[in-house]
Amino acid sequence: MVNFRYLVTSALPYVNSRPHLGHLIGSLLPPDIYTRYLSLQGHEVIYICGTDEHGTATELAAEKAGVTPEKWCEEYHALHKVDYEWFDIEFTNFGRTSSPSNHELTQYIFKKNYDAGNVFEQEVEQLYCDKCKRFLPDRYVKGLCPKCGEETNADQCDSCGKLQEPKELKEPKCVVCGGGAVLRTSKHLFLDLPKFAPELKEWLGTKKFWAPNVLNWAVSLVGDLKPRCITRDLKWGVKVPLKGYEDKILYVWFDAPVAYIAITKDAPGETGKHWHDWWTAEDVRLVHFLGKDNIPFHTIIFPAMLMGTKEFILPYNVVGAEYLNYEGRKFSKSRGVGVTLEDCQSLPFTASQWRYALIQMAPETHDSDFTWEQFQKSVNELADVVGNFVHRTLVLNKKYFDGVPEHGEWTAKDKELIEKIKAAPASVAEELEKAHLREALKRAVALVRDGNAYLNEQEPWKNEAVRANTLYLSLAVCRSASILLEPFIPGDAKKIRALLGEKELRWEDAAEITVNGPLGESKPLFTKLDGVKDYEERFGGKKEEVSYVKYEDFKKMDLRIAEVKSAERVEKSDKLYKVVLDVGELGERTVMAGLAENYAPKALQGKKVLYLANLEPKKLRGVESQGMILAAGPDWQVLVPDKDAKPGSVIE
Ligand code: MF3
Ligand code: ZN
Repeated sequence: MVNFRYLVTSALPYVNSRPHLGHLIGSLLPPDIYTRYLSLQGHEVIYICGTDEHGTATELAAEKAGVTPEKWCEEYHALHKVDYEWFDIEFTNFGRTSSPSNHELTQYIFKKNYDAGNVFEQEVEQLYCDKCKRFLPDRYVKGLCPKCGEETNADQCDSCGKLQEPKELKEPKCVVCGGGAVLRTSKHLFLDLPKFAPELKEWLGTKKFWAPNVLNWAVSLVGDLKPRCITRDLKWGVKVPLKGYEDKILYVWFDAPVAYIAITKDAPGETGKHWHDWWTAEDVRLVHFLGKDNIPFHTIIFPAMLMGTKEFILPYNVVGAEYLNYEGRKFSKSRGVGVTLEDCQSLPFTASQWRYALIQMAPETHDSDFTWEQFQKSVNELADVVGNFVHRTLVLNKKYFDGVPEHGEWTAKDKELIEKIKAAPASVAEELEKAHLREALKRAVALVRDGNAYLNEQEPWKNEAVRANTLYLSLAVCRSASILLEPFIPGDAKKIRALLGEKELRWEDAAEITVNGPLGESKPLFTKLDGVKDYEERFGGKKEEVSYVKYEDFKKMDLRIAEVKSAERVEKSDKLYKVVLDVGELGERTVMAGLAENYAPKALQGKKVLYLANLEPKKLRGVESQGMILAAGPDWQVLVPDKDAKPGSVIE
């Protein structure tokens, strides 16, 4: 049997903000646990990660902060590194997509694909700013939505959700200089994904063991592949090594996965030296961990890029996490919802406590929720089950024995527990192999629970006859648990092991019934948590509670009765009427109102309606809308006064 080597990666986190718990459990912690497990099994394994630094999001974040992208990335790379180290995430190398070696390798992989005819050129119509002399990426454009008339970028309308075609935008403008944007054609490069379809299909056919959430998506994509544009009009990124492309860079999703290779190359020591072997040898299993939105890139696009080189290995497995929510809501930095890794470092909990709790809440097969209530349960379970058993065993043992007791013949009860110890490593491993970390942790903790039940039942403090055997086996359970729990809570697992006088142990040692000693002085390992109200409040963000309006603010609204003089349809709109109102002393006003679906023009004529006179005027469909007619949803009926109020009457 081949003793496979493993090349494990975590999706490279973006640097536009500091990571939160969702990032940690989504793509960073699971591969760390997996890597530690494989290494205990005696596999040679490396764990590669780094920051994903190119692309529009970074450029915009830097611009907002008033620093260069280089400066921004350097700072955030360092912050990310600190955050992950704090949680005992141990990389073989934590690199950067902006490194020289990644620029070089990205261009190399691009070239190989280009030379093999996997990349073609095509003219694309795009918005261009004459003043800035540049093509404008979607987020650099503002215009009016052709569907609802609201302001939108060139990607998607925030108001009505329409996916925009840049050329359909009304009054497109450059967000940098505010100048008008015009359409221009420009050459772009496309990765010819349809060309790879047969090879991708065949390859995916060998992946029946992948998790359904990953495999199903990949298979459905392969059935309908379109060429993918791999160039962008930006400056911050990897240059396109072709004549005529001096003003463009390669798409961020082209260079980011290549950085897995570059970061291996930049790794210190033997790993870096043998990077090429790691990425080409048949005994290496490449395993990617990532959040579900990254699945297409790791199952289709990156594999195709690699296939195109005919040089590098393809992923062996792709593990896609679902999403972690925070107390039923999305994590949101701007709304202050959720806990960042930076926050964690100032709270009174250890890396082990966070890791243990997060695994129990991991979004493995469906989206899950971080709740402080569950966090408290997990933290207390770690203390009550694991911590307490180890401490109790050592304290009891010390009370009756000087060092490791000498056991006698095993009784039937002893043998029952011995069978459980022997079976545990394989049972935990079975789940870890599949990256089912939640279940694996449960099984590892189950052994400790068994040990606890056995200790309670035997009552060695009362029954001298069973004392030596019971404490010996309880110590043996501690030793096994220190191995089985090591991937999950490495720091404390090593502490437990040190208490038992052990250093380096392997996975298979966990099946042994051995206690070597010398035994150490036990102190409680884990603290408990009484309540979480404070935390819930502190990290809950602004709850969606009533936000009160001050009376002075209400008074600012000039609400009036108005009489509809006329209502007429607006071209190409099913919803809008251009309504002319008589507002008494304020004169005549024109309002664009979304009433066309519910009233015929005649039905509105003569109606007295409620009207907000001093709403900021806004141009809709080329007409200045002066104020707003109030209506009640969901079918938008206008509100009318009870008696015969005169046009212009003030409403208070
Ligand atoms: N930065 C991306 C994200 O957070 C992941 C990049 S993974 C890589 O969604 F493969 F491109 F490196
Ligand atoms: Zn401009």
